[in-house]
Amino acid sequence: MHLQAVELIESEAAKCESERLRLGIAGEVIQGSFFEWAADSHESFDAVVGNPPYVRYQFVDEMDRALAEQQIGNLDLILRGVSNLWIPFAILSIEKLRVGGCFSLVLPSELFCTSSGGQFRKYLLEKFSSLEIDLFPRGTFSEILQDVVVVSGKRVSRTAAVRPVRFTDHADGTRQSWKHKVAVCSDSWTRFLLTEDELAAFIEAKSLPGFHSLGNMAKIEVAIVTGANKFFTITDSEVEDFKLHPWAVPLLAKTVDSPGVVFSESDFERACGKGSRSWLLDFSAERPPVNGRGRVSEYLKIGLEQGLQDRYKCRIREPWYRVPHIKQGGLMLTKRAHHFHRLLLNSAGVYTTDTIYRGVMNPLYEKRETDLVATFQNTLTLLSTEIEGRTYGGGVLELVPSEVARLSVPLVETNGLINQIDEISRMVDGQQDSSHSVMVVTDKFLCEIVPGYAQLLPRLDAARKRLQSKRQSS
Ligand SMILES: C[S@@+](CC[C@H](N)C(=O)[O-])C[C@H]1O[C@@H](n2cnc3c(N)ncnc32)[C@H](O)[C@@H]1O
Repeated sequence: MHLQAVELIESEAAKCESERLRLGIAGEVIQGSFFEWAADSHESFDAVVGNPPYVRYQFVDEMDRALAEQQIGNLDLILRGVSNLWIPFAILSIEKLRVGGCFSLVLPSELFCTSSGGQFRKYLLEKFSSLEIDLFPRGTFSEILQDVVVVSGKRVSRTAAVRPVRFTDHADGTRQSWKHKVAVCSDSWTRFLLTEDELAAFIEAKSLPGFHSLGNMAKIEVAIVTGANKFFTITDSEVEDFKLHPWAVPLLAKTVDSPGVVFSESDFERACGKGSRSWLLDFSAERPPVNGRGRVSEYLKIGLEQGLQDRYKCRIREPWYRVPHIKQGGLMLTKRAHHFHRLLLNSAGVYTTDTIYRGVMNPLYEKRETDLVATFQNTLTLLSTEIEGRTYGGGVLELVPSEVARLSVPLVETNGLINQIDEISRMVDGQQDSSHSVMVVTDKFLCEIVPGYAQLLPRLDAARKRLQSKRQSS
């Protein structure tokens, strides 16, 4: 055996060299940049092992970045939107394997769901077989702040449309393995964190009568982008102080102010009373002009003093303080969630900014908002948020509009269910409820009216819990 190791930092390289000597392995530790070494080395290897650096591009040495991009380009790969060094590092190192050679790399678990990770997933599936993903609870590798997985595989020459991938979870000192057939494409791998049985239940449940893709039922989109939320969204007392009434329209800034699933006028009053940012400034052409109107000019001057006129979103509009596309939707959906996403009924006619999506029913389902909202918090829908959404660590689950459109939601006759759901949601403080009281009642309702849901529920529940606990421990 002959080892070649590359490490940038002298003291780290020295540690590696002393381990090499202690273990009596022939070879050398090269102190320098991997990207320089990779550009000069034309050898192939039988094995690659490593723990590449996770460094955001903005902190990467210019020379390393240029070398990484050039070598990736030589492979006919274009890395779109890649902002972290681990992707070119991993690809260029395993590219050095000869056919039949194996690798094992410690990589950030973001490779499962981010779109830049998608290019790496596709590359892996194209060129490697015997793929194995080992999952570890946070803290398994001391000093690594990020959540990591160990990815291993064997270089092959033949292509395939689908490859089997084995997943092994090493949680709590136990070991649970499962295998999935994974299509060679860049789709998210989050669903493969489920066992075969759980994933089969998810796929079957999605086609139960009454369940549909949310995108077919409603159009949910990014709401108002102000460019400076702190300036354009204000409290009741700021409206009063600066006499901004002619330009203030009602706003729900944070879903924590909506304990129920129906956001009512009295919820709005309550939010105003507790000093939430409950008003949005609308300086559209249809509103009274601002010039020479007392205190509004003073308020705009504060924005000028903060240099808002030069901020990207403000600078591209005329005048800089005229926020465009001010409209509301009958539906509101949280963009990010700690425990679970919520779909709310907008009974107070409020507007939202970019942290709460706005939605309207598609023409075919007009006036069915109540049915959609009443049953949204069920196990299958919340499982689909975990599968379709993305997480950047810290436990937060984010959905972008294309992912929202793929959520699996029920649309059934709910009669008076909304009142019961709204009441329970208020009793448990809405989104703060980690015991999922609303979901339990919704599931019970769906079990009675959707044939097949009750049989699948235990597996869907296990699947949802598995993904939620993985996300929350990250
Ligand atoms: C996640 S740490 C792994 C440390 C150690 N090898 C281990 O496995 O515990 C990543 C290592 O990559 C090194 N590194 C960062 N940029 C590098 C580069 N351009 N070339 C070679 N090594 C680099 C860092 O100094 C750091 O020691």
